[in-house]
Amino acid sequence: MNTVAVLGLGDMGSALARALLSAGHAVTVWNRSAAKAEPLADLGATVAGSAAEAIATSELAVACLLDYASVREVLGTASLSGRTVVNLTNGTPRQARELAEWVAARGGKFLDGGIMAVPPMIGKPGAFVFYSGPRDVFDAHRDAFAAFGGINYAGEDPGLAALHDLALLSGMYGLFVGVLQAYALIRSEGLSAVEFAPLLSGWIAAMAGFTEQTAVEVDRGDYSQGVVSNLAMQAAAFDNLPAAAADQGVSAELIAPLHRLLVRGVADGRGAQNLSSVIELLKK
Ligand SMILES: NC(=O)c1ccc[n+]([C@@H]2O[C@H](COP(=O)([O-])OP(=O)(O)OC[C@H]3O[C@@H](n4cnc5c(N)ncnc54)[C@H](OP(=O)(O)O)[C@@H]3O)[C@@H](O)[C@H]2O)c1
Repeated sequence: MNTVAVLGLGDMGSALARALLSAGHAVTVWNRSAAKAEPLADLGATVAGSAAEAIATSELAVACLLDYASVREVLGTASLSGRTVVNLTNGTPRQARELAEWVAARGGKFLDGGIMAVPPMIGKPGAFVFYSGPRDVFDAHRDAFAAFGGINYAGEDPGLAALHDLALLSGMYGLFVGVLQAYALIRSEGLSAVEFAPLLSGWIAAMAGFTEQTAVEVDRGDYSQGVVSNLAMQAAAFDNLPAAAADQGVSAELIAPLHRLLVRGVADGRGAQNLSSVIELLKK
């Protein structure tokens, strides 16, 4: 019963199955469209005729499907009694908590996960996965998880892996908002994004150094210490970003939300504080 089942053989599920096989695990795979299982069979995986069959022959089932609706659809066809399901499908903390209850009601054990990698990174340095759910269930399957890359246990609450995953993705998308806006400005004058890229990545690396200090301010809830670039100054400078974009024929829709928050922050009396103080405006 130490076979690992992989349910879902899209780009990511296939990468997970390959990593398990490379690490020497016995792997049973299943995918809705059977053809995607063939390359894994060539690598030594057993191909199950149904998700129920794959789960029945494996103590641990790794689900990596499009969304939580497809996970429930697939798991709903199987008996989960005595089985452990680790769901590595992207979702929200609430979806993870609800799925944990749903699996428990069917007699299964459950962990949720968040994959911080693209498929070619799986099993290689730099890839890691968040896991959350009962500690003993997590510990029992560490060996299998090690095949995917780094392991980050986020806590007993099954929603915590998704929370950490989405927080990191928020940072990533924030970065790409800035990168795309910067290139749009550069391209508006016909300049080369490729030539500009080293300047941009160097600048982003320098600014990333403020991440830790911002965290200190946010945890303290005190945004008035060591202010060297106050919010009022930044809001005034930020006015030039949408103004320049408009002049250059570039939409400001990517940066408009932060602009509104800076203006609100100043109106709220936060002008002398650090930029980090706008986090207070995000609380609902
Ligand atoms: N790719 C990435 O860079 C990446 C990175 C981190 C996390 N993830 C997460 O990993 C998960 C899978 O991503 P992916 O890149 O593997 O996506 P994908 O290549 O589009 O594969 C989607 C998988 O879901 C299956 N599926 C969809 N609806 C289904 C249903 N109703 N019933 C049964 N199976 C169904 C598909 O089966 P068919 O083959 O039959 O269509 C396929 O196996 C997603 O939650 C994604 O957010 C992906």
